Amino acid sequence: MLLDCDPGLDDAVAIACALRYADVVGVSTVGGNVALDRTTANALALCDILGAGDLPVHAGHDLPMSGSLEHRAQEFHGPGGTGSVALEPSARSATSNDAVSWIIDTVRAEEGLWLVATGPLTNVAHAIQTAPDIVGRVAGVSWMGGSSTVGNTTAAAEFNCWVDPEAADIVFRAGFEHLTMVGLNITQTVRLDRAWIDQLRAEIGGTAMEVFADMLDYYEARQRTISRASGAAVHDVLAVLYVTHPQVLAGIARPVEVILAKSAARGMTLVDQRPSRNPAPANANVIEWADNLAIEQLVRDALSP
Ligand code: BDR
Ligand code: CA
Repeated sequence: MLLDCDPGLDDAVAIACALRYADVVGVSTVGGNVALDRTTANALALCDILGAGDLPVHAGHDLPMSGSLEHRAQEFHGPGGTGSVALEPSARSATSNDAVSWIIDTVRAEEGLWLVATGPLTNVAHAIQTAPDIVGRVAGVSWMGGSSTVGNTTAAAEFNCWVDPEAADIVFRAGFEHLTMVGLNITQTVRLDRAWIDQLRAEIGGTAMEVFADMLDYYEARQRTISRASGAAVHDVLAVLYVTHPQVLAGIARPVEVILAKSAARGMTLVDQRPSRNPAPANANVIEWADNLAIEQLVRDALSP
């Protein structure tokens, strides 16, 4: 697995799950929840905590393909992307500042590689534009982003798609044999509530992993305040688990179109859910069901020392 991410509180938990359950070749970072310098520093620090201090971490693009970004997601993830937690900075710096070349080289070198993306698709789209052959080389792409129903950043758009709709459009049109959209409408149904986080804290108390309970505390509180929903929805985790534990999620092949027009719908993933009426050919496996209890248990196991 190659993990492209923007940590980010739920990205942090996704990294923990990936390192526990997958053979991870490395991490690339993208600007999203916070700026690229922070997502990269956070990825490096998280790798240290998780005992992966030698894993390659490549920094990618900070800004979306359009070249500008109205705002990031500090209101959910805190000013530096890790809530109120100040992670011990890593002694390392990024392996390179050219994640796109690294993604291309790695896809060409590795058989059966899954690309898991838990942020805006900027790096992945640049890689496809530069080297279209990678589309036929990967085992698949699993992306946390989009939605079949509601948005979060706007009424129509989920954050990762809202940040870089042009990149998402390139990925959805690229012709991947396996492209899975783990959308917001499903990820927000899996929520780690206060009692769950308290129990986790009791189980991991006193270890380096305790920072995860602190990060989840912050994330849960922000979601309760802003989204008026209790429990932390750890969206990004599901894109990782789709690859490592496919039995906990189920999807249906659907045609998905990314809305690019400058309108209220910009950044929306329009999923054609009609059973007939000559829909366009399916270009994605759209997740429609999650086994919440199994996912909660997998997260607990991944965060246990
Ligand atoms: C997505 O947006 C980000 O804030 C999260 O990390 C997740 O990837 C959810 O909409
Ligand atoms: Ca993310």
